[in-house]
Amino acid sequence: MLRDIIAERYDELPVSTIGKLLKVAAESKDVISLGPGEPDFDSPPHIIRAAKKYLDKRFTHYSPPGGRHELKEAIIKKLKKDNGISVGPENIIATTGSTEAILLALMSTIDPGEGVLIPDPGFLSYKPTVEVLNGMPIPIPLYEKDNFEITTEKMEEVIITEKTRVLIINTPSNPTGTVFSRKTLEEIADFVRQHDLLVISDEAYEKLVYDDAKHISMGSLNGMGDYVMTLQSFSKTYAMPGFRIGYAAGPEKIIKAMTKLHIFTSLCAPTISQATAMEALKGEQKCVENMRKEYDRRRKMIIKRLNGIPGFICTNPKGAFYAFPNVKSFGMKSLEFAEWLLKNAKVATVPGTEFGKFGEGYIRLSYATEYGLIEKALDKIERAVVKLKK
Ligand SMILES: Cc1ncc(COP(=O)(O)O)c(C=O)c1O
Repeated sequence: MLRDIIAERYDELPVSTIGKLLKVAAESKDVISLGPGEPDFDSPPHIIRAAKKYLDKRFTHYSPPGGRHELKEAIIKKLKKDNGISVGPENIIATTGSTEAILLALMSTIDPGEGVLIPDPGFLSYKPTVEVLNGMPIPIPLYEKDNFEITTEKMEEVIITEKTRVLIINTPSNPTGTVFSRKTLEEIADFVRQHDLLVISDEAYEKLVYDDAKHISMGSLNGMGDYVMTLQSFSKTYAMPGFRIGYAAGPEKIIKAMTKLHIFTSLCAPTISQATAMEALKGEQKCVENMRKEYDRRRKMIIKRLNGIPGFICTNPKGAFYAFPNVKSFGMKSLEFAEWLLKNAKVATVPGTEFGKFGEGYIRLSYATEYGLIEKALDKIERAVVKLKK
């Protein structure tokens, strides 16, 4: 029998409870899942048509590691128009989803032992990706009282040494739904310049903002072009997660390093997806607004309903498609409470601790789920927790 060959880094990966909970949810017909982190919408018809067209045109070959020229041209226009970021093709790389952009950006900038500041609670890929590269994740605690925004005060409290190289920010945020204000971003920008850090700005949910919230790209702030790697994705904006396509835009020397490393990770982002993504950028954008409106309708309902259920306190998230209520009053740990809900309400949610230790006391409910199903799930939760509160 082969000797035990699995590398140590595998053992260091977190044991995901999401996987376990969602498996139970998928296997039982009577469970409603508010777990998913992907749009419930299929890709819009014109995007599917574009994919078919490019398949017929035999877009079945490799692409350049940095991405197809036509896609880069479309991205340049988009970044200028939507984000206020002016870049050239040498500043862009197309990646296999923004997940690969996170990996390539960190691979290109982090040596073993170097520190990466990450939001906590924050998207669950950040920490393991830093760890797999033998870097040191440094959590920045985010608090409900600060609307889960990063404050410079909190950043000053964490250890910044010569070895701290990168800060990851994510606005609109998964799991909290927070959209960072311009003031917050400007404060972060000052901090970043002071400590000479690279910002990886994960903007996967940029188009999903509500009420008076506005998405602002850190890379558009005055003088920040040299400090920011902007990460964008087609997964949420155009409901294209299975196409696995995203991109990064930032300083040329880092993009060059990422492009070289790309040759040894996946060679290039899928050619068919690059061509389809280009059409998504060039095509009508009404589909994006239609999905956003529907998410907004669900958001309003879920927040109102949650706040009406005894024991839940839910801030009003202005972005992404998640509610992140405080459930501390139930006297259970997040994981215990999510398991309790699964068993007693037959609703799958994600414990806040999946996103870092400062997620303790919260659960994440995704409203990338059909309106009627969310309503049913909330009815079930309400009926179950009323018993707890008696
Ligand atoms: C904050 C955040 N960043 C990145 C991603 C990854 O997206 P992609 O499908 O582009 O890899 C996700 C997916 O859920 C996410 O929530």
